[in-house]
This record gives sequence, structure tokens and C-alpha cells, in this order.
Amino acid sequence: MARNCKEKRSFGSTARRWWKENVVYQIYPRSFCDSNGDGVGDLNGIRSKLGYLKELGIHILWLSPVYKSPNDDNGYDIADYRAIMDEFGTMEDFDALLAEAHQMGIKIVMDLVVNHTSDEHQWFVESRSSRDNDKRDYYIWREAVDGHEPNNWGSCFSGSAWEWDETTGMYYLHCFSKKQPDLNWENPKVRDEVFDMMTWWCEKGIDGFRMDVISMISKKEGLPDGPVEGLYSPCMYGTCNGPHVHEYLQEMNRRVLSKYDLMTVGETAGVTVEEAKKYANAEGTELNMVFQFEHVGLDEGPGGKWSITPMSIPALKENLTKWEKELDGVAWNSLFFCNHDQPRVVSRLGDNSPQSAKCIATMLHFMQGTPYVYQGEELGMTNCPFGSIEDYRDIESINAYRELTEAGLRQPEELLECIAYKSRDNARTPMQWDDSPNAGFTTGQPWIMVNPNYTTINAAAELADPDSVFNYYKQIIALRQDSKWSDVIVYGSYDLLAPEAGRSAASEVPLDGNEAVFAYTRHREGRSPGSAARRQKDGVTLLVVCNLSDQARTFPVPENVQWDSAELVTGNVPQADLTLTRELALAPWQAAVWALN
Ligand code: GLC
Ligand code: CA
Repeated sequence: MARNCKEKRSFGSTARRWWKENVVYQIYPRSFCDSNGDGVGDLNGIRSKLGYLKELGIHILWLSPVYKSPNDDNGYDIADYRAIMDEFGTMEDFDALLAEAHQMGIKIVMDLVVNHTSDEHQWFVESRSSRDNDKRDYYIWREAVDGHEPNNWGSCFSGSAWEWDETTGMYYLHCFSKKQPDLNWENPKVRDEVFDMMTWWCEKGIDGFRMDVISMISKKEGLPDGPVEGLYSPCMYGTCNGPHVHEYLQEMNRRVLSKYDLMTVGETAGVTVEEAKKYANAEGTELNMVFQFEHVGLDEGPGGKWSITPMSIPALKENLTKWEKELDGVAWNSLFFCNHDQPRVVSRLGDNSPQSAKCIATMLHFMQGTPYVYQGEELGMTNCPFGSIEDYRDIESINAYRELTEAGLRQPEELLECIAYKSRDNARTPMQWDDSPNAGFTTGQPWIMVNPNYTTINAAAELADPDSVFNYYKQIIALRQDSKWSDVIVYGSYDLLAPEAGRSAASEVPLDGNEAVFAYTRHREGRSPGSAARRQKDGVTLLVVCNLSDQARTFPVPENVQWDSAELVTGNVPQADLTLTRELALAPWQAAVWALN
């Protein structure tokens, strides 16, 4: 398992790595497949679907947390890092899943949640028991200040980020729920414990870590008050990209990561391009890649997460292009729209139609970076028509609703509309396997409602339909592995085309004219020795054109594009329907990729 450490590597965009060449499929185990009828997905359920994932062409799975947890935040509150959650099965089930996945050529990346633990973790149970317990400094304890919380930080899940603990008469910090106390990374013993635990999993043979809110582990010196938004100062201000975060990750890399051949991705909320260049630097001293959120913040209104503004396509193009250009050759990015914390992209950027799902997939998967598919995205699964607040299960949505309506800051109906659009529960409804009751997810009562559209959107129907969203995903995933294209798709440079095409100053009218057309090229030089001109000529250029709107559009094709030799690589409209001209006519949600040679 341990690899030769002398082999010093560069991870720049030209260095070949398996975690660049594959697509990652994320599983939210609670909602994927229930094998025993208790209404909760589980490890044996996942194992029973490996064939489905193989069919899709997946070689890397990221599992959201499967560890022992009281489930205040569905497993992101871990009570024992070396045990499996009772509802999900046993360690034997995990070992069987890992072995079978490996036999099928599928790697497994584990969620690593070490910014915080559960308050039911043994470390916290001891830490809170007395002021002089050995584990007291494993967490962040502070005295009250004038009978109040030590600072004005708010938790990401509403309320103060501090909880008063009666036993010892002090506050502890929790950036998420009060059942998720933050670990004190300044304490070297905490780092030893975390690194030992990671080594234990690596020795078991897992293939990597997705690191939960890893940009938040080093808090600002002195925990100062921050700027207030609403009732508190969002704790992100005092925790993201803190003073020691890179030092801690470099230590982690030296002591654990560098000893194995892993995929490591940091969930880096609040990361800037400059910071990302450090987290995912090409020298490989920290992590392989970042997973950042700027583009999914573009439909946030002035009131933050629970206010909505339409996603502006020019802003989206500009933002994604910035990340493409800035990281090229110096760091590596993740390509995603969906995960377990995001609403469904087909309901957000698309119009719920299969064509829009395919168009968005094309736009994303042909950029430089590692693409992620979140369970059900490959079926075009949509947001769920939740009714009242009682339909929700997510602590973030429920707490926000309570806090904002009770404080009189928002009207219930209006807030519910925003929650329906943005809630994380949209991603967490059960996977839609077939049109049998409960979408074939469980024979019991599912823990959260099933989206009623499962009768038409489901895996069984889509596997059988050559034109389905599933089969489109399968095709673009296969192209990434096709020796003819993989080089340019994975390693090619990126250029946005005609960014200003039809772009009016009115970004409030996002779908106005050609600005909804997202077009770019990817280019990879040939490898033949000889002149640069020769390599340019031997190279491959892809032209990707996506009409991100439900209206017909045109796209002004640049003069240097030679249609006569263009080859259609993929698209969601048949070749016969394409007329290649300087003013390319695009159907609603049309996407196409050509090779220009
Ligand atoms: C990350 C996870 C999210 C979780 C939070 C706290 O953002 O993706 O689901 O609630 O961290 O662990
Ligand atoms: Ca179950």
C-alpha cells in the first residue's frame, strides 16, 4: 500500500494522475439504496448497486460519512471515526464493499470530518467533564465575557456559535450545530489523533479523503468579533483560511498523505484563487484539489443563502473562466454543481428538462478539472416539491426557518419559497431506481419523502432509453477515458470564446440574447518532437458550445474555426440536425462538442 516516497512528484496540470482522468461519483448513503427495509440507505445497498455505477463508467466513489453518529447532521457529526453507523451496517459490510469495489476497478474516497466531532464522541465526553481533564484542550473552551458568549460569531446552522456548558461553567465553540463541537487544531495531540485515525483508514486500503470544511480548522488569533450580518457575525469570517491552515495540511501531508497513493480533495468554503493555489499546489505539499463554491453562490441575493437572484450566465462564464485560467498548471480544481449541500442543478440553472440536464453536463465535464456527479444527477433528478416545513429533515433549513421567522426577519411563506429552492434536502430525497413504490429505494417507510416524479425520472427507464440523461452521462464519461480524447479533455488548456457575445450591461436580465451561450475551446499540443508550429498542428482542439437557455439562440463562430474538418464528438442534438455556419443556430439547451483539426 505505501508507495515509494522518493518518487517526488509534481501535480501540475500536465502531470498525469488517476484522480484527474476519472469522474468522481458522490453517494449520500442515507438516500442511495436501502437493503433491509428500514427506510434508510446502507452499505449493503451501495454494494448492490456497484454494477449500476460500473455501467455508468465510474471508477471513483466518494461516500458521505458512514461512521458512527447520532445523526444530528446526518453523519457529519461523528461519534467514533473507527466504527460504522449502526443504520448503515457493520465494519464487515464496509470491508466487503471496499473489496468488491476494488475487484470491479472502483476506488473509494472517504469523507473526513475533522473540523469537529459529535458531542457524543468520547473525546468530547471527557473534555466537558472537568476543566482539568486531559482532553480539555481537544476543543475550544472560553470563559463567558460579561455574562455573554465570548464573541459575536454565529453558527452556520443558526444561533450563536457558542454553547454554554453547565458542568464546568464555560462556553465551547461549534461552527455548526451545538452537537458538533469544533476541535482545537492548535493542540498537537489533536493532530496526532487525527493523523493516526487517517493512517488506520489508509492501511485498510481506502483510496482517498474528501475533507469536510477543511478551510475552517485554523481559527483567527484571539477569536475576535466579526462584522454582523443579520443576528450574528457568520463564523466563516473568523475561521476560513486561518493563520495555520496550510501548516497543518503540510504536516498532514508529510505524516500521512505522502505515504499513500490517494485522492485528496479539500472542501474549501471561502477560498480565493490565491488560497486555492496553496491548498492544491502543483508541488503536492498539501491536497490534490480544492472543491470551492464561488459559482454556486452566484444565485445568492443580498440576504445571503436564503435569498435568491437568478443565476447570471455572464457572471457564471466569467467566474468559471477565472478559475480555469488561474489554476491552469499551478493547482487543480473540482468541477461540480451538485452535491449533498446544493439544490439540484437542473432545477437551478436548467428548466427540469432532460435537454437542460445534458447541456449543463456538457458545459461542466469538458472544462479542466475533475468532474463530480452527485447521485441522481445522471438521471436529471430535480428539486423536490416539499410542502410545509414539516417535510424537511435538514437541520440547516429547519433552524433557519425557525430563527428567521421567530425574529420577525422574514415572512414564513416567502422564506419557505426560498427554502424550497435552496434547501439541501432537495439533494437528499431517495435515489430514483424505478417506478415501483418509493422509487425502488426501500420496501419500508423512507426517512424523507420521495420526489413524486420518480414514475418518469428513474434509473430503470433511463437505462432502457438510448436518449436518456443517463446514457448521455455515460457517453461523456466514456469520452474522458477514450484515448483519442482524454488527453485534451483532461489536460488541455481552456479558453472562453466570445465572452462578450450578446452580453448587455443588464446582468439582471440573465437570459437576454446570446449571453446565454457558453462556448469555449480546449487545446492540447501534439507531443511530436520538432517545432512548436508542428506541435500546434498535431494538437487537438475541442470547441464546446452550450446554449444555457430555453430559447433558440445563435452563436457567432470565430473566423479561425474551420467547419470543413470539424468532427462532432458529442452533443444532445443529432448530427443530421446541425447546420454549420458562421452564425450557428442553437436549439434551446443545445450542447455540442466538435474536434477542430
Ligand atoms: C460540510 C458538509 C455539510 C455539513 C457541514 C458540517 O459543509 O458538506 O453537509 O453539514 O460540513 O460538517
Ligand atoms: Ca437500511
